[in-house]
Amino acid sequence: MEFVDLKNSGLRVSRLCMGGCPMGGYGWGDVQEKELLDAIDVAIENGINFFDTADTYGLGQSEITLAKGLGERRKDVVIETKFGVRFSNSGTIYDNSPSYIRESLENSLKRLKTDYIDIYTIHYRDYSTPIESVVNTLESLKEEGKIRFFGLSNISLEGLTELLPYRDKFVCCQDEFSLACRKHENELIDVENSLNVTPMTWGSLGQGVLTGKYNRDCSFGKDDRRSRNIYVNFHGNKLKHNLEIVEAMRPIASAHNVSVAAVAIRFILDYLKDSVVLVGAKRPSQIESNLESIDWHLSEKEIELLNSISLSDVNV
Ligand SMILES: NC(=O)c1ccc[n+]([C@@H]2O[C@H](COP(=O)([O-])OP(=O)(O)OC[C@H]3O[C@@H](n4cnc5c(N)ncnc54)[C@H](OP(=O)(O)O)[C@@H]3O)[C@@H](O)[C@H]2O)c1
Repeated sequence: MEFVDLKNSGLRVSRLCMGGCPMGGYGWGDVQEKELLDAIDVAIENGINFFDTADTYGLGQSEITLAKGLGERRKDVVIETKFGVRFSNSGTIYDNSPSYIRESLENSLKRLKTDYIDIYTIHYRDYSTPIESVVNTLESLKEEGKIRFFGLSNISLEGLTELLPYRDKFVCCQDEFSLACRKHENELIDVENSLNVTPMTWGSLGQGVLTGKYNRDCSFGKDDRRSRNIYVNFHGNKLKHNLEIVEAMRPIASAHNVSVAAVAIRFILDYLKDSVVLVGAKRPSQIESNLESIDWHLSEKEIELLNSISLSDVNV
């Protein structure tokens, strides 16, 4: 396994993190609990010590399944979970108020069957609660021993301004980044440098399109989020372009004797220095295939080729 020291924390985590969105069991088509539990076993047996989840994934189901899969091993791993998105009958709102942070944390602790969260992350800023109040609440929870560190996610360049006084306070920032999605690259790098945080990528496989198993005719059931047009990676010209990226990855995968998914992950590991790549997985075979990304490098020529194909579509 390859590890990285998370900024401002002393935590050392695997650069491949098991993403917990599919673990929510909702919106990803067929997801079986037994396969998820086996996948967690395979992840740990192969050196993955970092698990990402959120209170929103399957309305808490992801945290419940993660706790079940980890069992006694919880103390040996680093868990990141997130707060700030509130569902109600009238819709979804972002809420970073002190009372909602505390309420969300207590619920996450219960579901995760733990008395501390390693990294508690602002999923989305509500931009109405002052950032000073959010940081003060998180600092208090740290002093109370309920969280160890806190992180950021989905921060735009405009959103960065209010955070500048808090350099060295947060440990990480998550944003969407992959060969299929380059539009947040500047934000991710600017936030990393300005706040001294570890960059983490989500949608690292373009929600699965970069694994090489989908084609032009792929379609999803209504119970799969990727059937919706907002999951752009699987629709129209974007899908066409993503399949061109896959075709460019195939010979590279063969040359290194690894899966196509592993090449997509390796690109991020090599391209974004000291980053962590979050990858969602539904079953052990997917973890095994993703683990093939570890302990080798793409050549400069291969990186250049993948980079240029990835950037050849203005819509990425
Ligand atoms: N901070 C945020 O706002 C945010 C947002 C989204 C996600 N995240 C985090 O980032 C993680 C990663 O993003 P993601 O899960 O949305 O997308 P992803 O990692 O790009 O794609 C995950 C999907 O790809 C497929 N897959 C994974 N490995 C595979 C393999 N080796 N071979 C074939 N198919 C494979 C699986 O779906 P199929 O088998 O159905 O194709 C899996 O559910 C999430 O799980 C979550 O922890 C954070």
